[in-house]
Amino acid sequence: MNWRFAYAVGFHPWEDTDAPFARKIAELFDREEKGCQPPYGQALDLGTGSGIWGIELAKRGWQVTGIDIVEKALRRARERVKKAGVDMRLVCGDVTALRAAGVESGFRLVLDTGTFHDLNSTQRDAMGGEVSAVAAPDATVLLLVWPRRRRPLIRGASRSEIEAAFPGWKVTDVEPSHFRLPKILDLLLKPDEHWYRLRRE
Ligand SMILES: C[S@@+](CC[C@H](N)C(=O)[O-])C[C@H]1O[C@@H](n2cnc3c(N)ncnc32)[C@H](O)[C@@H]1O
Repeated sequence: MNWRFAYAVGFHPWEDTDAPFARKIAELFDREEKGCQPPYGQALDLGTGSGIWGIELAKRGWQVTGIDIVEKALRRARERVKKAGVDMRLVCGDVTALRAAGVESGFRLVLDTGTFHDLNSTQRDAMGGEVSAVAAPDATVLLLVWPRRRRPLIRGASRSEIEAAFPGWKVTDVEPSHFRLPKILDLLLKPDEHWYRLRRE
């Protein structure tokens, strides 16, 4: 996917999620917060885009950093953050070089709603290594992934590709996200999207 072009022309269907998707992501956040009181600690939103889910985490009581490589997406995120009245750090940079972008360490929750699965294998390995370097010892990684399949736009990733990019982490859960694209795009792209939850081994 050419993300810069997509934002430039206003093509961002991943932002149009519906109630079943929102319920599922809230359920995943609830699980990470269970037994704790806010503030929950630091969360990192990889490929934050317009900041939608990072802002949601900030509202819930996480101290959030969002990173994206597309300046236009970050402009939209800055506006949303301001409108939401939350505190969220926004960084322009590459998820494959988090530390070089100034992302610090200690993240208890690392969220990726659709960036990893379109990276090539070199980028995936780099992202996995960077996440391992900045995540806290007890961190959880939540990755939203389309299965690998021959389709336009999004590459997709298999479970074994995820495991290869995150050595030292174990997939603990794989669950449907309930994400649906508009009908024509859904038929064309067949997202069949799932959440992968990873914890350190
Ligand atoms: C499917 S969009 C998801 C955006 C946002 N997380 C959401 O759910 O609304 C994927 C995002 O990853 C960003 N992205 C892609 N490759 C990236 C990279 N190497 N480093 C940082 N961000 C990247 C894109 O600019 C885009 O905003």
